[in-house]
Parts: sequence; structure tokens; C-alpha cells
Amino acid sequence: MAAEAPGIDALPARIRHRFPIFGRRVYINSCSQGALSDSVRAAYDRYLADWDEHGAPWEYWVGQHEAARRSIAGLIGAGEDEVAVTTSVSAGLSAVASGLRFDRGRSKVLVSDFEFPTVGQIWHAQELRGAVVEHVPAEPDGTIPLERFEAVIDEQTALVAVTHVCFRNGSRIDVKGVAEIAHERGALVFLDGYQAVGSLPVEVHELDCDFLAAGVLKYLLGSAGLGFFYCRAELVPTLWPTQTGWFADQNIFEMDIHDYSPSPTARRFESGTPPIPSIYAGVAGIELMQEIGIEETRLHVLGLHDRLYDGVAELGGTIVTPADPEKRGALVCVRSTAVDELVRRLAADSIVTSSRDGNLRISPHCYNTAEDVDAVLAALAKSRELLG
Ligand SMILES: Cc1ncc(COP(=O)(O)O)c(C=O)c1O
Repeated sequence: MAAEAPGIDALPARIRHRFPIFGRRVYINSCSQGALSDSVRAAYDRYLADWDEHGAPWEYWVGQHEAARRSIAGLIGAGEDEVAVTTSVSAGLSAVASGLRFDRGRSKVLVSDFEFPTVGQIWHAQELRGAVVEHVPAEPDGTIPLERFEAVIDEQTALVAVTHVCFRNGSRIDVKGVAEIAHERGALVFLDGYQAVGSLPVEVHELDCDFLAAGVLKYLLGSAGLGFFYCRAELVPTLWPTQTGWFADQNIFEMDIHDYSPSPTARRFESGTPPIPSIYAGVAGIELMQEIGIEETRLHVLGLHDRLYDGVAELGGTIVTPADPEKRGALVCVRSTAVDELVRRLAADSIVTSSRDGNLRISPHCYNTAEDVDAVLAALAKSRELLG
């Protein structure tokens, strides 16, 4: 096993006490959901107290909604007018897809084979509206290199849908490279950033994507119900979502039922009543992650990865996530011959992981220690026969 890097546990030493679950379990499953912190729990208490205190504090809650927009814009380096506060990736993606047209010589939508089900399904739903959906396949080594995109993006391509980090195998796509090819050929880029935001710095203008959708449940330490959607400023007025609602209207409180006049900003991609409790929790989670440090978290997690890669190799196991740190996110996947049984055995040792496609998913975050990784390795050593 690799020698312990100096200070490998400096980050968790500072913050782990804020996540009570570590008193009971080795929680190393942030690709599914982040661990609950004291500040997110307190945010829910604040929501209830505000409700109790104010009765129906709608104006106050609209203020919270706007605070969420500010917080998200700051997180991803977008302008506030470029951000819609949504309830999920699906909601933002459906809104933008409903505003795209596929009848102007550009009907093709290219969907990478790394996409989360909701992304593939929503783009295929656009076939009812004239889109022609094609997939960009992965290589046997579990990556999708730029050449794959180079080969298929053409003058008929309306949009390329990519995920920053694949939820199945942890592989990271070169988003900036894809955007360069797509834009050269006049196509737009939709990025699903869910498995990246909070685990590594994500800056929309640097990545040069046209749209990004993500949520706060995982590495942003929030809870279910709050997502967000970014649309590049100059594209906002060109898109008229038909999946809409009164919170997308230019004047929410006008209560006009006689026309459709969407907001001039990315708020036009919103829908109905915002997820207020999830907003309290989500903003608390984002603020906590920013206080902890996303760049510092990334470096810390790469240190834990080194230990995990060495340990799995010593056990004779196979990691299907790329070895190059530039080509992976926080999630590392280990091949198994019976993954459900492996997850169950780890759970019996109080270690929380998950699985996809016959792979064990291990996703360390800011709060995980070298000892957590060693606990996973010790549990895998007891179940060596299940490693593929
Ligand atoms: C990459 C990715 N995209 C999207 C989602 C979820 O999408 P939604 O917010 O629509 O439920 C997940 C996980 O839940 C995910 O891992």
C-alpha cells in the first residue's frame, strides 16, 4: 500500500465532526447522496421556524428562492440571469428541450452513452417533436475520447448532450474539447454536471457549455428536491419553453391567464411553486461546501484515490475508472462478479457504498479519511472471491 501522504486527513480532521453519520458508519457513497451535516439539519429547522413565525411568508420565501439563484450562480461562475432554480436535472432539461426546434435543418441530437437515464429518455422524447437522436458510444476502456465526438458532430447536429462524470464508471468527459468541436460546427452543448458539482471546480464559462443542469443532493451536501439549470445569456431570449409555469412568467404576481410572456432571464426555464424546504437545505449545503473548499476537496479525494487504487491492485481486483486523474471524477468503480452481494457484505460491516452495471461504486468526499478507505479495502479483502 502507498505510504500515507503527509496531512492526508487534514481536511476531514477539520470538518468530519459536522457529519454525525460517521459516528455509526463508514459513509463513502456521495455519488448517491452527500452525508447530512449539522448546518443542513439546522436549515430545515429554520424553514419550520420561519413558517411558524410568519404564517404564509411568501415574499420572504421568494427572497429565499432568489438567494438560491445567487448562491448557485456564484458556485458555477454564471450570471444570476443565466440561472433557473429547478427541482431536478430532469426539470431543467425538459424545459430547455421543449424550447428547442428541430425543423430547421438541424434535427440531430447526439447523446453520449455515459448519460443518466433521465437525460437519454428526455432527448428520445423529443423524437415526437422531430429530433433524430443518435448515441456516442464509449470505448472498451470506459472512456469517450474526443475523436468519437469529432466523428459524429456535423452540420445537421442541433445539440450534443454530455455528462461531466459518468455515474456508471466515474469516467470524466473533456467537456471543453467537446464544446470546441460542437461550436465549430454550429451545435449546442448540454452538460449534465450532477456527478461533478461540489467534487471539483465547475465553471460554466470556462467549460464553454451552452446549458448545464445539476442538483444539490450529492457532493453539494443538500437534499432531494433542489436542482438548477444554467443557460448561456445570449441563448435565453431565443428559447421559448413550452414546458413552463407561473414562476417562469415575466411577472409572477401579475396572475395573468391571457398570455404566455416568459421572463427575459433564465427564470423562463422554471415552472411552478419552488421547492422551498429543499432551497433552505440546498443553500446551506452549497455554502458549507464553499466553506470547506471544493478545490481542496478535489486534491484530498485524489489522495484517497491513490490509496484505493493501490489497495485494490494488491487484492488482485480491477478498477474500471480511468487511472488518469484528469479523466475521472470523485467516483471510483471496482468490478465485481456479484455486486449486490458485495454491497450487502460491506453494509454488514457498516460501510455504505452502491453499485451500477456490476461495479461497486466508492465515492469519497471531503469528510472521508484514509481510515475509511482502509476499512473498505479490509472488507474487500474478506470478499476477494467477489472481485472481478
Ligand atoms: C449524472 C446524473 N444526472 C442526473 C441525476 C438525477 O436526475 P434528476 O435530478 O432529474 O433526478 C443523477 C442522480 O441521481 C445523476 O447521477
